[in-house]
Amino acid sequence: MNGLDGVVKSVQQTARYVASHLADHTGTGSETNPSGEAQIGADVWADRLFFEELSELDAVGAYASEERQDVVDCGRGYSVAIDPLDGSSNLASNNSVGTIVGVYDAELPAAGRAMVAAIMVLYGPYTTMAVARADTDGVGEFLLRDGFSERWGTCTIPETATVVGLAGKTSERSDACNALADELNHDLKPRYGGATVADLRQVLEYGGLFGYPATTTNPDGKLRVHFESAPLAYIVDAAGGRSTDGTQSLLDVDPDGLHARTPTFLGNGVLIEQVETALTG
Ligand code: F6P
Ligand code: MN
Repeated sequence: MNGLDGVVKSVQQTARYVASHLADHTGTGSETNPSGEAQIGADVWADRLFFEELSELDAVGAYASEERQDVVDCGRGYSVAIDPLDGSSNLASNNSVGTIVGVYDAELPAAGRAMVAAIMVLYGPYTTMAVARADTDGVGEFLLRDGFSERWGTCTIPETATVVGLAGKTSERSDACNALADELNHDLKPRYGGATVADLRQVLEYGGLFGYPATTTNPDGKLRVHFESAPLAYIVDAAGGRSTDGTQSLLDVDPDGLHARTPTFLGNGVLIEQVETALTG
């Protein structure tokens, strides 16, 4: 077993535990995370679980989380960056949430090109885990169950695009972005649920585009480079799609801090080109 196998196994086992115990952590906390968002009790609980498992591994030298201000030094090895419970505001309405993990062969902050693996867990009607690794082609997906997990298939983005999920109010997006949204809504079915992992999983299944653009409330976009945008871009690339911040691949975005944000678009290559053309004029 190499270092990445250990990281994947640890995420798999912890995610399974999270899935079966999430109902014990439905209360809202009063704290805010380093990005200023309300922390739900479950965010902090999930962060602690993943920290306890991942920081113990020989292959992990640093642990960074959306829920923690600073990187935690754990020795020598990969830096893991994690969004322990992506889309946690969906818990109030009992909708899907996820976990995102980026494995960086570099000290953080680092651009996504330094990643050697990315993992995305979706806590839906059942729990699935999609894994992209530098030493393996494509994106393998696993169905997580108690006691054992089975290979479920492979995520490959279909050539034909069917769905679109674009965040933000019309009143808060740029005119160029609203014109783009009109074009996309003309040809694609709307699929926006409020958890990036869940919305992106639909794009990987049906083809299309997920986007969280710059808005007046979030001028740099809402999603964080290390914990969300870059790891998901790594998965989408491995699945045959592309990503952009409006001008460049999300894997090339150079974050100026651990919690840096970026406008984020993920999906079929032709739609990413359409985004870049629309937003750069
Ligand atoms: O982690 C941030 C997040 O919860 C994403 O999972 C999701 O896509 C987004 O925020 C939802 O934001 P909004 O409520 O503004 O649509
Ligand atoms: Mn998130």
